[in-house]
Amino acid sequence: MTLEERFDVILAAEDKIEPADWMPDDYRKTLIRQIAQHAHSEIIGMQPEGNWISRAPTLHRKAILMAKVQDEAGHGLYLYSAAETLGVDRDQMQTLLHQGKHKYSSIFNYPTLSWADMGTIGWLVDGAAITNQVMLTRCSYGPYARAMVRICKEESFHQRQGYESLIRLCSGSPEQKAMAQDALNRWWWPSLMMFGPHDTDSTHTEQSMEWKIKRVSNDDLRQQFVDMTVPQADYLGLVVPDRDLRWNEERGHYDFGEIDWEEFWAVVKGNGPMNRDRIEHKVRAWDEGAWVREAALAHAAKKEGAIT
Ligand code: 3HC
Repeated sequence: MTLEERFDVILAAEDKIEPADWMPDDYRKTLIRQIAQHAHSEIIGMQPEGNWISRAPTLHRKAILMAKVQDEAGHGLYLYSAAETLGVDRDQMQTLLHQGKHKYSSIFNYPTLSWADMGTIGWLVDGAAITNQVMLTRCSYGPYARAMVRICKEESFHQRQGYESLIRLCSGSPEQKAMAQDALNRWWWPSLMMFGPHDTDSTHTEQSMEWKIKRVSNDDLRQQFVDMTVPQADYLGLVVPDRDLRWNEERGHYDFGEIDWEEFWAVVKGNGPMNRDRIEHKVRAWDEGAWVREAALAHAAKKEGAIT
């Protein structure tokens, strides 16, 4: 059996490809691209929420938000480790992100303007992330699939805490409910954009599904998310900002309006409301943290010296 045939057999048997296994160059490249983007999204995604840690309304909410932001850091670390098993260096991934050569999710290029944005991000952004990521626990690449099992459990907690926070706001004063509605108005469409372009415009979906990296297409995941989320908005008594949204009895799904793809591509290409701030902040944190990395390396070298 050739190496390529063995690779195909592993995929067909629903087994996992492991780091030492032979894999096609493009399979490796696709995984590095997707896992690095995913890791960067977790790390950049700490910024919009970090913005509210010092302004959370109670100690209880502050503790929850801090735990959530720490979880995102942990997810980034598991994912960088998973990418490293494919032969790419962590520092190199950071450099490519800082130079704008690596992408991260479009959603984190929008500002967080009110406390209701924290609940809404948990509800919608983490809700969209889980919808997309549950399929990744079945990804054909072992280290990525295994990292996703824990990440999905934690994302599920994030989604619930967000929704619970919105339940509280929506059953509070009219001002609090209006704040929640305003947040939904601003985050709804960017959340739908998280799933990527329509399947017909998606560069990678077909090949990634053949390789069992992706299991469900962008449009199918987006539909799943809309079907799950609209009843949740109804329960909160909030109005989804889409005049074309209606239940389609025949399809058994919600029909919904067209995404503003011009806005999506502008954000993806670096021209969203917060792209420049996000990268500037990330580079500054990286530079200011140089002493921590140096100290950690010196400590590791000292310990190694003591052992040998
Ligand atoms: N933001 C930025 N870029 C996006 C995007 C988005 N929402 N959606 C698609 N793109 C980019 C793709 O990266 C690709 O560009 P590239 O060729 O330069 O990499 C191009 O648009 C075409 O899109 P495709 O549909 O062909 O790309 P994929 O097949 O990779 O599908 C994806 C896109 C569904 C996002 C897929 O990569 C994926 O499932 N990734 C893993 C999950 C992930 O990265 N999630 C980030 C969400 S946030 C998060 O997890 C943090 C949590 O704490 C909330």
